[in-house]
Amino acid sequence: MNLKEISDNIKKELSQSQSLTELDSLRKKYLGKKGILSCLFKSLPRENKNDFQKVNQIKKELENGIKEKKKTVGSLNEIKEEVDVTLPGIKTETGTLHPLTKGIKDCLEIFEKMGFVIATGSELENEWYNFDALNFPPNHPAREMQDTFFVKQKETNSSRERLLLRTHTSPVQVRYMEKNEPPLRIVVPGRVFRNEATDASHETSFYQIEGLMIDKDISIANFKAVIQEFCQIFFSKQAKTRIRPSFFPFTEPSFEIDMTCAICQGKKCSFCSNTGWIEIMGAGMVHPKVLENSGLDSSRWQGFAFGMGDRIIMLKHKINDARLFYSGDLRFLKQF
Ligand code: FA5
Repeated sequence: MNLKEISDNIKKELSQSQSLTELDSLRKKYLGKKGILSCLFKSLPRENKNDFQKVNQIKKELENGIKEKKKTVGSLNEIKEEVDVTLPGIKTETGTLHPLTKGIKDCLEIFEKMGFVIATGSELENEWYNFDALNFPPNHPAREMQDTFFVKQKETNSSRERLLLRTHTSPVQVRYMEKNEPPLRIVVPGRVFRNEATDASHETSFYQIEGLMIDKDISIANFKAVIQEFCQIFFSKQAKTRIRPSFFPFTEPSFEIDMTCAICQGKKCSFCSNTGWIEIMGAGMVHPKVLENSGLDSSRWQGFAFGMGDRIIMLKHKINDARLFYSGDLRFLKQF
C-alpha cells in the first residue's frame, strides 16, 4: 500500500466512525505501538526525509481528525447509552475490623493510657529467647514436640540457632530489656502457636498480650492495681477476678488470674469446664534470672509481667467458641 492509499483509507474510515469506541479502535489501528503508521515510521530508511514528512503529515491529520470527530460524535450521547440513571444504585458493602483486631486494639489503648508502650516481636523465634532466657530448664515438657512447632532444619547444638514458632509473647520481654534501660512499661500484642488439641477455648494459634513493668520498687500491689483497672475498663463494669498461685519458670512468685465465666455468669458451663471461672492470664514477678539473662542488674531492678490470651475478647462479647474467630463466617463477623 502506498502513502496515498493509506491516507485515503484513513479519511474513509474516519468518516465512517460513529462512536468513541470506533474512533479509539481507529487510533489504535494507525497510531498504536504496533499501528500501521508507527510501523511505517520504523521501516522507513533514515535518508528518506521526504516520506518521513509525508507520514508525519498523515499522522497529524489523523490525530486532528479524531479530535474533531470526537466533538461531533458527542461523548454525551455515548454516556447516555451506557448509564441509566433511573436504575437503583448498587450498595457498596463496607467491611469492619475483625473482632480480634478490634479487641486487641481496645486492650492496648487501655494500657497505653496507663503509660505502657507497645512493643512487638517476631512469630519465628529461636529456642534461646522462647525458653532458655526465660529460665525454662533444658528438659521442661513445654519444649517437647507436643507443645512446640519446631522448624525443620539442620541439627545444631546452639539454642540460639534452633528455630520455632513462638509459643508465647514472653520472649519479647527479654529482647526488649536487652535493648532498653529501665524504668520500662510495655505491652506486646502478638500471635502465638501451640501444637495442641483444639476445643471451645483452645486453638493451635491464638493471640496474646504480654505486659511488662520494670522499675526499682514495683510490687504485686502495682500489678493488681493495673489489672483491676484494665478489667474494669475493658469489661465496662466491676469484673470479678481472682488470683491463684501458679508456676512459670520466668516469674517468682507466679500466679494466674481467673474471671467469672461471662458465658454462664459463673453458673458453670462447658466453656468454663463447669467451674464457673475462666483463666485469662498468667503473671508474676519477673524472675531475677530473666533480668540477668536480659542484661539487667537484678539487685537494682524488679517488676511484674503478665500474658493474657485472646479469650478475654470472647468473654467480653460472650462468644462461646474460639473457633468462630477463624471460621471466616460473615454471619458471625458482621456482628462486630
Ligand atoms: C503463658 O503463655 C505465659 N507466657 C504467660 C505469662 C507471661 C506468665 C508473663 C507470667 C508472666 P499460659 O500458657 O498460661 O502462659 O498462657 C497464657 C494465656 O493464654 C492463658 O491464660 C490463656 O488465656 C491463653 N491460652 C493458653 N493456651 C491457649 C490456647 N491453646 N488457646 C487459646 N488461648 C490459650
